[in-house]
Amino acid sequence: MSDVVGYEVRGRIAVVTIDNPPVNALGHAVRVGLIEQIDRAVADDAAGAIVLIGAGRTFPAGADIREFDQPPRDPHLLTILDSFDAVEKPIVAALHGTALGGGLELTLGCHFRVAAPGARVGTPEVKLGIFPGAAGTQRLPRVAGLDHALELIVMGEPIGAAKALDYGIVDEIIEGDLLDGAIAFAEKVLEDGTPRPISSEPKEGIGTPEQFAEVIQKYRDLAARRMRGQESPLEAIESVLDGLRMPYEQAVAADRERFPRCKDSDQSKALRYAFFAEREAAKIPGVGKEIQPRPVETGAVIGAGTMGGGIIMCFADSGIPVTAIETSQEALDRGRIDEAEMARRVALISTSLDYSDVGGADLIIEAAFEDLELKKEIFAQLDGVAKPGAILATNTSYMDINQIAAATGRPEDVIGLHFFVPANVMKMLEVVRTDTSSPEAVATGMRVARAFGKVGGLAGVSHGFVANRSRAPLVREAIFLVEEGATPAQIDQVLRDFGLPMGVLAVSDLSGIDVSWRMRQSLAHLRDPEERYVHLADRLCEMGRFGRKTGSGWYTYGDGGSLPVPDPEVDEIAAAVAAEQGIERRQIDDAEILHRCLYAAVNEGAKIVEEGVALRASDIDIMWQYGFGFPRWRGGIMYHADRVGLPEVLARVEEFHAAHGKLWQPSALLCDLAASGGSFTG
Ligand code: CAA
Repeated sequence: MSDVVGYEVRGRIAVVTIDNPPVNALGHAVRVGLIEQIDRAVADDAAGAIVLIGAGRTFPAGADIREFDQPPRDPHLLTILDSFDAVEKPIVAALHGTALGGGLELTLGCHFRVAAPGARVGTPEVKLGIFPGAAGTQRLPRVAGLDHALELIVMGEPIGAAKALDYGIVDEIIEGDLLDGAIAFAEKVLEDGTPRPISSEPKEGIGTPEQFAEVIQKYRDLAARRMRGQESPLEAIESVLDGLRMPYEQAVAADRERFPRCKDSDQSKALRYAFFAEREAAKIPGVGKEIQPRPVETGAVIGAGTMGGGIIMCFADSGIPVTAIETSQEALDRGRIDEAEMARRVALISTSLDYSDVGGADLIIEAAFEDLELKKEIFAQLDGVAKPGAILATNTSYMDINQIAAATGRPEDVIGLHFFVPANVMKMLEVVRTDTSSPEAVATGMRVARAFGKVGGLAGVSHGFVANRSRAPLVREAIFLVEEGATPAQIDQVLRDFGLPMGVLAVSDLSGIDVSWRMRQSLAHLRDPEERYVHLADRLCEMGRFGRKTGSGWYTYGDGGSLPVPDPEVDEIAAAVAAEQGIERRQIDDAEILHRCLYAAVNEGAKIVEEGVALRASDIDIMWQYGFGFPRWRGGIMYHADRVGLPEVLARVEEFHAAHGKLWQPSALLCDLAASGGSFTG
């Protein structure tokens, strides 16, 4: 008998329990066990009805994603839930935790569904490049109605128990013990002789695709906007439409061809890679489960500017009281938290001009102006007022945090917490470990990322840490390409076509070209005269073209508009700079643009891994996804390089090295892996 699916009889109810930690994934052993135990219940005269439940933290959270790379093994999940249709004893699924994907599909094969109040249900398959292929696209519309089913299937976001009840996915919410409640529900079904609803049967209200044209278009548009370039949401819609066009059996048969095509697609492989890479990023050598993060029950933020304001909202949104410190009342008033925001979160946010007011905070995040001396001063002051054990963090984008830590008498408590713009929206949080940060401080940073609903990724101290450092060469090459003859619009189009949400030069205009110009000025003494320099970006700034805020930058923004409009003047300025620098302008093809931009970043990413500044190449990919909106279905820049083939990438890097000099020095890691047949991401 199965050791991952248990069986017992309570009164006249058979209880079948799936016990396959950590998330009760529906791997092969579970599927075999399910058939065995349901058959047993069917044959058991003592059992009048069946309750299906998950042990531990959750009802099955889906198929076992690790099995996707292996040949399919019978029994298929679909066979199991189709077999439930013929079971004459009522089957009640009892949901808690996260009933996702195949887990939810399994419940759709059951006749009734009850849920704990905290349960979440959903079909996140599109996020893995597939769709609910075990008849979810057929059964869910019949259970929840087409609009609700499309919402779940196409967008992939789970919903809570109350909404699931409202959508008709759940029949009852059980307060108190879930199993007892589910047994009581099953007893009542038996007592009342309630007919068993079968979700594969035709359902009234489910019409033709033509009748639902509007709602279908709504989800096509949403998918195109939120998951641009991704195929699975569109395949999912087609599969749902088959359910409207043809009988259940035929629609399911059509999926039998559609599903493997999706599962074996490059996009699905990249999305599965991203799923595991994200979980891997949480694993930090030396910071194992035995390291206790410090509790963060109160926070403080130094500096209430754009970044500080966003960080303050992160605290407030997570229910953590926070004190905002500014140097002057004027600066506080200028702060980005408007009055309505304040009113909403008033109980959680307090403001002050006095550093001693951060004395009680468990975590203090400094988000002041990017000036090393200023930051050192702030940290020295914080050292004087913060309570023992408080974590002192800086949100600097590129300063040397070792030096900042050394300005305190407790460098072990200092880390970097690098937020992305806008801080309360972007899901990435780069946690920077200095030479002296304690494992507890790092663990606290990672825990805080989760508390803020973000993904934490570890970086070492280095100019720009991991994310910005690996992205800087892409921006640099884009600027050089304009000097050499490409237009900003051409470059941005190539990158958008590749899948980036916005072109890199349009992004620069949005955040302000002057930011990096000022940084270059402050670091001018470190400039290597042998390296090619971004003269054109400086020139635009010298002309006051700072980007959108000044009405022009790489583009022009007529009449205060927000849409970038190509500006012939930029071409003229570029031609003048090229002439001064002895750069010959030419027609540049799209392939060169893509390779220059991407491989510059990949080569830098390889150096970052080689130096140990990133723990692994996949961490870079996660940072690009959640920090810069890099398309998840491409996996990431390092994953992409692996797919292209590292010998091919290295050949291009070497070519660019020969043509453009020192900045293209190939990374030793890239050379080693290309020579040995290795890869960055496995
Ligand atoms: N298959 C295999 N492993 C899985 C898994 C799955 N479906 N879901 C989670 N895991 C693993 C994780 O990799 C992780 O392993 P490690 O500890 O070794 O890193 C462990 O379970 C715990 O996961 P999380 O760290 O993510 O835990 P969490 O509490 O933060 O989140 C969760 C739990 C919400 C279930 C989240 O893991 C999740 O979203 N899982 C994926 C859900 C999903 O996509 N289901 C659909 C699968 S496809 C499908 O079902 C189609 C089909 O039938 C044909």
